Amino acid sequence: MASQSEQVANLPGPRNIDPIEFRNVLGHLPTGVVVLAANAAGQPVGMAANSITSVSLVPPLIAVCAAHTSSTWPLIRHEQRFCVSVLASHHEQISRQFSRSGTDRFAGISWHHRDAGPALDDAIAWLDCELVTEHDAGDHTIAVARVLNLASAQDGRALVFFRGQYGRFEPTNLDLSRRENA
Ligand SMILES: Cc1cc2nc3c(=O)[nH]c(=O)nc-3n(C[C@H](O)[C@H](O)[C@H](O)COP(=O)(O)O)c2cc1C
Repeated sequence: MASQSEQVANLPGPRNIDPIEFRNVLGHLPTGVVVLAANAAGQPVGMAANSITSVSLVPPLIAVCAAHTSSTWPLIRHEQRFCVSVLASHHEQISRQFSRSGTDRFAGISWHHRDAGPALDDAIAWLDCELVTEHDAGDHTIAVARVLNLASAQDGRALVFFRGQYGRFEPTNLDLSRRENA
């Protein structure tokens, strides 16, 4: 019988993981989609993101990963404050619009000012955030932000991103007043 150290030695080493394969496999984890938006010199700027998560309850912190190649994230970083709008199930085109380069991403969008930045009118939740710190991680930066204020719609349904496609959240139990605490 092989010793423990022999078993470890026989483990396959890390293989070169193709970035497309990485994205395809990680795409099996369904996520919501948000728009991160700030007022940059009086102009609204924003980008779609799905790498957002809650980090800490006390203090209330979120994290979001922004690609080093993003031209919008440095504008948001510069402002230090941004608003997160959680997209509703009918916001597929808005998600596409906020990921397209070379266009006015706010063209035709209904939005209003919140304390930390532009907020989409019929999103299902909003977070006013202040950047706390950033951690370099590979080709992205992990931005940690403190939530200054927040709100949610009564009966909103989320846009869901799964395996590179859009869908909507359908509860198995239709009673949205019942919540699981994770
Ligand atoms: C569903 C979806 C999720 C995305 N999530 C992220 C993300 O978490 N981080 C990121 O940097 N870009 C993300 N993007 C890409 C950005 O929205 C955008 O395309 C990218 O920032 C390039 O534009 P920019 O140069 O104006 O920043 C996502 C795009 C889509 C459609």
